[in-house]
Amino acid sequence: MSAKLLTLSVFAATLVFAQAGGPPQPGPQPAPPFGPGPNNNGGPNGGPNGGPNGGPRGPIAGLTQAEVALFNEGLSRFLEIDSVSGTQPGASGVGLGPRFNLNSCAGCHAQPGPGGTSPRVNPQIPVATSFGATNTIPNFIQQNGPVRVVRFVRNPDGTPDGGVHDLFTITGRADAAGCKIAQPDFAAAVQQNNAIFRIPTPVFGAGLIESLPDSAILANTASNAQKAALGIAGRPNRNGNDGTITRFGWKAQNKSLMIFGGEAYNVEQGVTNELFPTERDETPGCNHNATPEDHTNTTATTVLSSISDVTGFAAFMRFLAPPAPAPATASSTRGAQLFAQIGCAQCHTPSMKTGTVTSAALSNQTVNLYSDLLLHHMGPNLADGVSQGLAAGDEFRSAPLWGLGQRLFYLHDGRTSDLTQAILAHASPAGQSPAGQSPTGQSYPASEANAVVAAFKNLSATATQDLLNFLGSL
Ligand code: HEC
Ligand code: HEC
Repeated sequence: MSAKLLTLSVFAATLVFAQAGGPPQPGPQPAPPFGPGPNNNGGPNGGPNGGPNGGPRGPIAGLTQAEVALFNEGLSRFLEIDSVSGTQPGASGVGLGPRFNLNSCAGCHAQPGPGGTSPRVNPQIPVATSFGATNTIPNFIQQNGPVRVVRFVRNPDGTPDGGVHDLFTITGRADAAGCKIAQPDFAAAVQQNNAIFRIPTPVFGAGLIESLPDSAILANTASNAQKAALGIAGRPNRNGNDGTITRFGWKAQNKSLMIFGGEAYNVEQGVTNELFPTERDETPGCNHNATPEDHTNTTATTVLSSISDVTGFAAFMRFLAPPAPAPATASSTRGAQLFAQIGCAQCHTPSMKTGTVTSAALSNQTVNLYSDLLLHHMGPNLADGVSQGLAAGDEFRSAPLWGLGQRLFYLHDGRTSDLTQAILAHASPAGQSPAGQSPTGQSYPASEANAVVAAFKNLSATATQDLLNFLGSL
């Protein structure tokens, strides 16, 4: 929640309609939204395609005027930077901490624009000591490495943990008098192979994914001759409360954009809200605001300024345009055929169709997501030992590949920036995770992608390049 919401809304509206290549906009946003993206063609290993993806990112086509206004309002909330009580210059949002990983949604979801993934330069380094904070920076957080969120695999007594342990605390900040809490001992956790990492997933086109009926996802679970021959199965993750399919996050662990946003607000930034109203750390001296810190503003004079931040985040993400692929070339067209022929498309389903949903722009649309949204056993090499919903330690959602050409870091932990390595990492025989890699001591079945990766390795140099060019064009 911010006192400056109105100014921000106007500011955001200006940005949405700003021209690509226009002058940088002033303001508190951590990344230049809708400005030109990186224009480097990633070369042989794919990478940012510099095509239309690099341009402005507006709302999805076909929204009503009122929906566009809501999108713009949501964008301003997504860009907002939080401090403990809203008193830090440039950080008018209220509710940061006591523990946090960053101070804005758009800071982590930054590349190639707000809603995206990890930016090239990690914003977690400056925030560690911002406004007097005294945090030390764990060695796995690097200036040119991905934004990382840490989960611990086990509790000290050996029982499963799996929860997010925030990197930083507000201790020492000028707006956090009286709060004295220590950061978790990350060095020990890493040494014990007990820390695993997750990087941000992008939310471009997320409203279309949210609008897929369960029946569309289930139709894809049916086996076919190619799946059977390749050993590919896959199953949906489900919500324990209403039983429907969950689909957001690396393990398809979350039901909706609003729930994900509410959870992220409390977990990543420490901002309590109407969905997650309880502080995760209630140490005396560290809770400086009444809860929930973000809430519906009952004294607002306009509808848009009355909505909570979590409502705004959900609207922004729901209406954010899907990634636009680069124009097809002869090579990328051959690559698309190979993608289907060798079986990548059995997990990375090229498209599904949305159901009849309230917003006409999202209703009965083809979604070119390149994912089946199902969980697959990916073998001990990728396993992170964390269970979420039905997803076991080695199961992950087929990552939606739309927009891939604009991502800088690949796989759930951002372990590589090399597309070929990301594909090769899909394969591993049954057994335990490699020495020195979390989690240890547990055995997993072989990866469902083994046969497909074997076929990938058998491609000629030209065919490999065609496939990489196709991926880079997404
Ligand atoms: C510290 C970095 C960080 C911040 C800040 C952050 N996120 Fe994320 N976000 C992540 C990571 C990491 C994931 C993947 C989480 C996982 O699956 O374990 C993610 C995933 C998501 C997803 C799931 C998208 C998909 O399809 O998988 C949504 C939605 C989301 N974030 C929304 C938000 C919103 C809204 C905010 C602001 C309240 C926010 N995030 C703030 C790091 C961050
Ligand atoms: C058995 C299902 C399956 C098959 C087959 C498969 N993938 Fe994947 N893919 C996944 C899953 C699951 C992930 C996420 C794994 C993780 O992050 O740990 C993923 C992730 C990726 C990523 C990284 C995306 C990102 O945002 O980091 C790329 C690139 C990719 N796959 C390309 C391919 C290509 C190319 C093929 C064919 C050679 C292929 N995949 C075959 C399931 C599959």
